[in-house]
Amino acid sequence: MTQIIALAGSLRSQSYNKNLVKIAAKGAEEQGAHVVYVDLADYPIPLFSEDLEAEGTPAAVNDLKHLFAKSQGILLASPEYNGSISGVLKNVIDWLSRPSQGADVGSAFNGKVAGIMAASPGGLGGLRGLGHVRDILNNLGAVVNPTQVAVPAAYGVFNEQGVLLDEDLAQRVKALGAQVADMASRLND
Ligand SMILES: Cc1cc2nc3c(=O)[nH]c(=O)nc-3n(C[C@H](O)[C@H](O)[C@H](O)COP(=O)(O)O)c2cc1C
Repeated sequence: MTQIIALAGSLRSQSYNKNLVKIAAKGAEEQGAHVVYVDLADYPIPLFSEDLEAEGTPAAVNDLKHLFAKSQGILLASPEYNGSISGVLKNVIDWLSRPSQGADVGSAFNGKVAGIMAASPGGLGGLRGLGHVRDILNNLGAVVNPTQVAVPAAYGVFNEQGVLLDEDLAQRVKALGAQVADMASRLND
């Protein structure tokens, strides 16, 4: 069965990007994929340093690496910070991009299908950051789906349960999840 890892680059409990990626995850599940949702707040990952790495990869990083290695697709919702990606997300990607220390784990990104999205209170919905996410994932060998979704004015588009109130928009987000699941299953046939 195709496995998709879904995560947001935010630690915030009420994160719009967590809401968003969970909707894309539903689309992937409806396409028949098994989705593993990861909340980065559950993974205490220090700021990357090669000195720290030389002492051994932190357990939380190795746990994530194993999850990524077993997944064929990635759904990623990336908050836009200062026109780019959040420090939290870049830090996690930097750790995951490194060869494992003593653990037999495959590449986190190479050959994986990725679907990217963003939600922001601003008018562009995090669109500027998505270009940077796409570049980074391409550099790491992921196949990034050409379709992406940016959700502006995020403070007013979700209800308290994290449901997108605009049904057309929700369908677009789900369709992205379904596309990634479909591409990932074909690539791994
Ligand atoms: C340091 C910082 C920089 C930000 N820069 C931007 C920005 O460039 N563009 C934007 O649309 N929103 C920006 N925001 C607002 C975030 O989009 C907003 O906090 C959003 O809720 C973060 O995503 P989350 O809800 O998933 O945590 C910034 C927020 C912070 C804390």
